[in-house]
Amino acid sequence: MDYAAAPSNLKNVKAREWVREMAALCKPDSVHWCDGSQAEYDRLCDEMVKTGAAIRLNPEKRPDSFLVRSDPADTARVENRTFICSLKQSDAGPTNNWMDPAEMKATLMRLFDGSMRGRTMYVIPFSMGPLGSSISRIGIELTDSLYVVANMWIMTRMGKAVWDVLGEAGEFVPCLHSVGAPLAPGAQDVPWPCNAENKYIVHFPEERSIWSYGSGYGGNALLGKKCFALRIASTMARAEGWLAEHMMIVGVQSPDGRKSYVAGAFPSACGKTNLAMLIPPAGFEGWKITTVGDDIAWLKPDGDGRLHAINPETGYFGVAPGTSMQSNPSAMRTIARNSIFTNVAQTPDGDVWWEGMTREKPAELIDWKGRPWTPSSGELAANPNGRFTTPASQCPVIDPDWENPAGVPISAILFGGRRSKTVPLVYQARDWVSGVYLAATLGSETTAAAAGSIGKVRRDPFAMLPFCGYHIGDYISYWLSFQSKGLQLPPIFGVNWFRKNAEGKFSWPGYGDNMRVLEWIVERANGQRDAAENPLGFAPRYEDLNWNGLAGFREADFREITTIDRDAWKDEVRSHEEFFGTMGDKFPAELETERKRLADALG
Ligand code: GTP
Ligand code: SPV
Ligand code: MN
Repeated sequence: MDYAAAPSNLKNVKAREWVREMAALCKPDSVHWCDGSQAEYDRLCDEMVKTGAAIRLNPEKRPDSFLVRSDPADTARVENRTFICSLKQSDAGPTNNWMDPAEMKATLMRLFDGSMRGRTMYVIPFSMGPLGSSISRIGIELTDSLYVVANMWIMTRMGKAVWDVLGEAGEFVPCLHSVGAPLAPGAQDVPWPCNAENKYIVHFPEERSIWSYGSGYGGNALLGKKCFALRIASTMARAEGWLAEHMMIVGVQSPDGRKSYVAGAFPSACGKTNLAMLIPPAGFEGWKITTVGDDIAWLKPDGDGRLHAINPETGYFGVAPGTSMQSNPSAMRTIARNSIFTNVAQTPDGDVWWEGMTREKPAELIDWKGRPWTPSSGELAANPNGRFTTPASQCPVIDPDWENPAGVPISAILFGGRRSKTVPLVYQARDWVSGVYLAATLGSETTAAAAGSIGKVRRDPFAMLPFCGYHIGDYISYWLSFQSKGLQLPPIFGVNWFRKNAEGKFSWPGYGDNMRVLEWIVERANGQRDAAENPLGFAPRYEDLNWNGLAGFREADFREITTIDRDAWKDEVRSHEEFFGTMGDKFPAELETERKRLADALG
């Protein structure tokens, strides 16, 4: 095999050797070293259009944008095929799939052997976090998917400058990805190659490497995101004294000019992108919201004793359905150009559409599977996990400090699940331990972001259930350990935008109106707001929130979504206990004390 020469500024012997070895294993027809330039991106997108992998959208409606339809069997993260292969099973814990690393390696070597035949292997050097910043980490993804290259170009800082940062001896996370669909000589490719029989999303935490086989979709394939920036990064973070979290980061500036930053963990498809780009409603004149990140936060104690956060990504891979000029105008403006749309519907004039984008459904569309569609088709036109990939730099409310390598200081941390019942609109945990309890017991109804059933309440500790790279008991203990580091820790709040009434409709207006809760939270964090005590902690009374400009939501409605139903909460606490029981001897005893306190308070 004679592959294209490595770039002249790649001086890292380990990286060079690894690429050579993996090429020898996967046996692609050619190797392309990505330089990360705009010209290269344009060329690769043109190639996707030429081969039928992507459709160029109408340049007058949606300039430089593309529509991609995945295989209908490859539309979300596959949690049951995701593995943490630590040396010891007890280090993966009860929330991760585990297999012996040697055994898994043998399986993977067999699968990857020749997996790229008939295809090109792309070498993507990338940085999570600003290039060269001390908090940033480097990865190299090898992939046989052009779609992955194009998405990584938007989502990460990728390209030849990374080789300079890596230098001769710098460390990188090797990320190997194949769609697992080798092409026989002369065979016709399909628009979305993937492997129907075998999918493996595998992490080797001790080795800090990632092997992903068989899927081309989102978190399964864009390895800088969940695999690296959450699963591997969470293990790095524990070793080095920081945190890698499934959190959005939002800037909140009050009319008097005071700026606070809030980080918030919500499970997949539970409102991070929306909260990060919130537009304050009428009645909140003078308040300004800015976006730092919408999915992942790396938090580090800074010299000032506070937690500072960076967003390691450069793009948003956001849920399309439900996104509209009403619900999230900033996202709509961000995706006006230079974006990739996956598994949404196509309009007759060559633009995109999804459920919730407009009140009226278009008369005709091509649905996400490529079939003609009308409102009477009786099926969704867009897949519920249809997504846009779009550059963060295009966000009209991007925070001026979003690329600051020192991060932004965090004033409050939120945890919020999708709960139609039981969990109140907002409450503040009493202290760090009760905040960790709140986060560790977070529950949420499952969404389309992961393959499997939808709408079932499951425990999703810290919104990290699918993303924690080690034992969840150790992870919770690590969070608890922050209380004795002499830091000025932010207060922790629980929120729930998703309460439903007896008719099954959302009781809380949500979206921009979440500003009413956010205002109380930042002012509470700054010591400016009163609250009432309840068994869960502290909560605003009706008169503590700003109701300016909100019509049709009365005190009785507020009470409906904030009153604590003691019987429902006793059931809730029993389910906490059940979850705690899965952690065995790694369960931190402090949380049992907190659980008993809560159970007692509920009477
Ligand atoms: P991931 O990218 O999967 O991690 O998700 P995310 O947390 O960024 O979710 P996102 O903000 O994209 O929201 C997902 C869905 O929740 C969309 O369909 C939104 O319309 C809906 N949503 C967001 N905020 C609210 C809210 O305040 N109320 C209601 N009812 N729905 C909301
Ligand atoms: C999530 O599922 O939390 C996402 C989308 O952010 S994916 O990148 O596919 O994991
Ligand atoms: Mn996410």
